[in-house]
Amino acid sequence: MTIKVGEVIAINGVKVTLRIFEDSSKDTLFYDGEKYKGISIREYIYIQRGFRDIVCIVEGEYLDENRFEEETNRTHYIRKVEAKPIGYYEHGDFNEGIKFLPMIKDSAFLLQEEKISEIYSKGRTDGFVIGKMLKEDIPISLPWQKLFNSHIGIFGNTGSGKSNTLAKLYTVLFDQKREAIGNKSKFVILDFNGEYTSEQLVKKDYKTTLKLNTQTGEGDKFPLSDEEFWDTETLSILFQATVNTQRPFLNRLIGGRNKYVNRPNSLLSYIQSSFRAVFSAASQKPDSLDLLRGIAEVLDLDNLKASLKDISWHGDRNKFWRSRDSTFFDADGISYEAVFGREVKSIAINDLDGFAELLIRANLQLTWDLISGFVQFEHIQPLLKRIDSSLSSLKKVVIIGNRRDNNQLLTVISLRKCNQEIKKVLPLLIAKHFYNHHKASIGYPPDMTMHLIIDEAHNILSQQSTREHESWRDYRLELFEEIIKEGRKFGMFITISSQRPADISPTIISQIHNFFIHRLVNDRDLFLLENTISTLDSLSRSLIPNLSKGSCIITGTSFDLPMVLQIDRLEEAKQPDSEDVDLETLWS
Ligand SMILES: Nc1ncnc2c1ncn2[C@@H]1O[C@H](COP(=O)(O)OP(=O)(O)O)[C@@H](O)[C@H]1O
Ligand SMILES: [Mg+2]
Repeated sequence: MTIKVGEVIAINGVKVTLRIFEDSSKDTLFYDGEKYKGISIREYIYIQRGFRDIVCIVEGEYLDENRFEEETNRTHYIRKVEAKPIGYYEHGDFNEGIKFLPMIKDSAFLLQEEKISEIYSKGRTDGFVIGKMLKEDIPISLPWQKLFNSHIGIFGNTGSGKSNTLAKLYTVLFDQKREAIGNKSKFVILDFNGEYTSEQLVKKDYKTTLKLNTQTGEGDKFPLSDEEFWDTETLSILFQATVNTQRPFLNRLIGGRNKYVNRPNSLLSYIQSSFRAVFSAASQKPDSLDLLRGIAEVLDLDNLKASLKDISWHGDRNKFWRSRDSTFFDADGISYEAVFGREVKSIAINDLDGFAELLIRANLQLTWDLISGFVQFEHIQPLLKRIDSSLSSLKKVVIIGNRRDNNQLLTVISLRKCNQEIKKVLPLLIAKHFYNHHKASIGYPPDMTMHLIIDEAHNILSQQSTREHESWRDYRLELFEEIIKEGRKFGMFITISSQRPADISPTIISQIHNFFIHRLVNDRDLFLLENTISTLDSLSRSLIPNLSKGSCIITGTSFDLPMVLQIDRLEEAKQPDSEDVDLETLWS
């Protein structure tokens, strides 16, 4: 038995209008020892219709003129509210959806608080709680079984509480399920701001933290196996190769390497034969001189560098020459032997890392491609320049060769101290690495899952970036689009958090199943959410610009009804290290 508060006076479509009795406008009511919320916007009531109780949410209220009393000169108003059905109780069970509508004169009652909790927790008692309902202050248990096998989006302006929500979600998950998860699932966080590198999320025993640093080179390094590095796609990502000419070039380079990789000194003889070819080819190419200089530079061969300095191109004769003694390099190779023979034979290679080898091989490949008239220098040279210029920072954050598989539950990769370029390319490589690795190790149906979590995802998923080549942008997005579109089949799930959802590729947004939406004020962001999230109702939508810190609307395929939760703030040690400066402490 509960409190009767009003009756239905109109029904229009799915909009129900009720007349509310005068004494029901208190904030909280007690009846028979139970607590009830009074009627106001976003509160719940139920309407009795035969054996069923139709549960409605209040969407608006207003006063309507009732009658005018002449003697007191007063107008009497009645309070009316508009409500929308969200589901119904039948035989004691709640079912969501508008299947039944009330009729005029049906009575409306307040809904006990515990029923509200029952509706949103759906009878879940395993207590996966990350927060409370904003208005009712009731803890709600989330359906973790349905949530973590979906793609999740966490959106909101800076400072709205995204990182806290993300951290809370996974902290509760690891607190409750770590043992059950065992080594069946892996979690990887791409942490652009270095917010999760200390005590956050899970005990250190279960967490590997890689703090990459392009500034000092003393940071951790992301390990790549040999096979993974010497791969056209990897190199294309690292050096942003264009599809038409530069990628086939890398392909040839890798093909050549694979062919001879098991022969001792294969690289050395490749270098030596290339020097000979440049200076004794029938049709010599002026640009190849610079390539040889590049190789001497990488190998740090001072004598050879000096010898090459003397050489230049003789435009009239179309061949190289040494002007100081008018030595021409003819196709018979005699001048080559005289000038370079001994020096080139004495080249020794020791301890070359993968990056240096790549640079040398790129120079050699282009040399041969030029000699055979296969490519145009201008098409490939930018790629070589990029390899050359990114090497120093790449070397600081990637290590090739000794890859140990880490079997930790959680890997946090902090990019906070990386330069812009690394922030742009490395996440791609990392995502691809884990995606491919996961695909190769699962059974069918998937017996393991992989969870990639990207905080501040606009760093890599944004659609607009004027500073990069269009084709590179497409490639970058395609990779993530593939993971998000195909990943689910393989048990790979993405959680992305971003302050600018409107900048993120619509393909990606449209694949997200569940949303945690914090305060957002920008019209474009709101427009996007309204148009892509089919489960977002207009009442919840209208709250978004005014949500307070830590409150968010949760909606999506794993939730029957949108709900507004105030997420619990994590205890201090487990809070993300946000970059907010506390001026009070700083200036005290
Ligand atoms: N649920 C919450 N309750 C109370 N304070 C919060 C909550 N979530 C975040 N905050 C506070 O708001 C600030 C910004 O939170 P943060 O999660 O870093 O936001 P964002 O990642 O959206 O920029 C932090 O100082 C944090 O302590
Ligand atoms: Mg954040």
